[in-house]
Amino acid sequence: MKAPKEVDGIFQADNPMPTWWQLVWLISIIFSIGYVVYFHWYSEWPQEVAFENEVKEHEVKFPAKTQLVAVADGSNPYRGDAVAIKEGEATYKQICAACHGPNAEGAVGPNLVDKDWIHGNTDKEVFVNIMEGIGPERQKLNRGGMPAWNGLGAEKVYSVMAWLATKNDTLVKAK
Ligand code: HEC
Repeated sequence: MKAPKEVDGIFQADNPMPTWWQLVWLISIIFSIGYVVYFHWYSEWPQEVAFENEVKEHEVKFPAKTQLVAVADGSNPYRGDAVAIKEGEATYKQICAACHGPNAEGAVGPNLVDKDWIHGNTDKEVFVNIMEGIGPERQKLNRGGMPAWNGLGAEKVYSVMAWLATKNDTLVKAK
């Protein structure tokens, strides 16, 4: 130990750091090298890897729907597709329920689960009715018609129809 230095009446000693302290310091340096190597090359912790894993998990939970392909008779390609039906129900509750009632029993918009269809009951007709809406020139109920829902895209609209078809067997595939 060196002799303490005096500055303005204050003694400054030059004690070595305690051994335990130096060891902690040294061990943390060694640990950090191992950590960096493990983190970047071997772990699942980096953002990109964690993201990819989450995507995989999601895909297992929600498998892709059968690809949307146009059917010659204009029928709904998602008929009977369990994933689409579930998604369609969610879309219905979020968007259509406001006018057609939470269970499609009708409100401002007509009942969609009874056997009466004002503008047609085939997949092809119903798809067009939903996508293009029912403007003032076509409306029959005089309640302002229905806005077009093509903004949702065919996939979502077909999904809603797949769900409706499970609740209403008068919504038919084709004539
Ligand atoms: C702003 C209110 C409103 C919303 C939201 C709405 N509709 Fe409508 N819908 C109507 C009205 C009103 C009619 C009836 C038009 C007429 O007078 O002929 C209608 C008619 C329909 C028809 C034709 C029914 C038949 O008997 O031929 C279908 C199918 C339909 N809507 C489906 C949907 C779906 C699916 C959604 C959600 C994506 C939706 N609607 C959202 C108001 C709405």
